Amino acid sequence: MTTDPSGGERGISLRDVGITFQGERTVEALAGVDFAVGDGEFVAVVGPSGCGKSTLLRLVAGLLTPTQGTITVHGKTPEEAQRDVEFGFVFQNPVLFPWLRALDNVLLPDRILGERNPTHAEAETYARRLLADVGLEGFESAYPAQISGGMRQRVALARALLYQPTTLLMDEPFGALDEFTRDQLNLLLLEVWRKFRSTVLFVTHSLQEAIFLADRVVVMSRRPGRVLRIADVPFERPRTLEMRYRPDFARLNGELRGLLQVGET
Ligand SMILES: Nc1ncnc2c1ncn2[C@@H]1O[C@H](COP(=O)(O)OP(=O)(O)OP(=O)(O)O)[C@@H](O)[C@H]1O
Ligand SMILES: [Mg+2]
Repeated sequence: MTTDPSGGERGISLRDVGITFQGERTVEALAGVDFAVGDGEFVAVVGPSGCGKSTLLRLVAGLLTPTQGTITVHGKTPEEAQRDVEFGFVFQNPVLFPWLRALDNVLLPDRILGERNPTHAEAETYARRLLADVGLEGFESAYPAQISGGMRQRVALARALLYQPTTLLMDEPFGALDEFTRDQLNLLLLEVWRKFRSTVLFVTHSLQEAIFLADRVVVMSRRPGRVLRIADVPFERPRTLEMRYRPDFARLNGELRGLLQVGET
C-alpha cells in the first residue's frame, strides 16, 4: 500500500479475510488471508483448484462479502470502489455477446454505465483506440464467432479497460488458450499494464505464468485457502519470454512448486 498526496491509502488491502459459505453444506473457502497489493503493482495468486482464488477476486470486487476481516481498495470498501467503477474484470471465458461486433462488445460497459463511464463522451473513439492497443485494428466489425479464442480474450481485455479502471482483476484469463497464444497475450498484458499503470490482481493455475508476469506471487494452500508464502519476483522489466529458461527463474519456480505440493498433502 502507498499513500497518495491527498493522504488516502492506495492499492488493495486484505486483512485477516475469511469467508464461509452456508448452504446445504458449510464450506470454509478462505481463512486468515492477509496481504496487500501496492498502487500500480502486479500481484499474481496461485493455488490448487478449489482453494478460493475466484472467491478472493469476487470479494475484492465487492461481489461477495467476507464473513471475517476487512478489504479496502484505494481506501474504500469494495462496494464503494465498485460504485466508483474502479474495477476491470477479465474472466477465464471472455463472455462476449455473439450477436455484437467486437467494437460493440467493448462498448457494452458504456451502454450500461452511461454517464458513469469516465470515457463516455468519447467512448467509441476510445474503444477503437483500445482495440488497436490490443492488436485488433481492422477487426472492429468482426463477430466473436469470426475471431480466434485469443482474439476474443483481447476483446475482453479491451472491454475491461474501457472505463480506465484503476484496478484490474483477472481470473485465469488465458487458461483456456494454447501455450503460444498465452505467451503472446502475457506480453501484451505487460505492455498494456505499463501503459495504463493499473493495479493488477491476477489469478492463475500456472506458476510459470505467475512468475513471468508479476512483481510478487502469492502462493495459497488447499481449501480453506490461506497464504503459504508471498514471493518477490526479482527479474527486471521489461520481461522477455527467454527469461523463463534462466536458472534463477527455474530456481524460484522449483521453490514455489515445492511449496504448492507440500500445501496439497
Ligand atoms: N457461491 C458459493 N456458494 C457456496 N460455495 C461456494 C460458492 N463459491 C465458491 N464456493 C466454494 O468455495 C470453494 C472455493 O471456490 P473457488 O471457485 O473460489 O475456487 P478456485 O480456487 O477459484 O478454483 P479453480 O482453480 O478451480 O477455479 C469451493 O469449494 C467452492 O465450491
Ligand atoms: Mg476459479
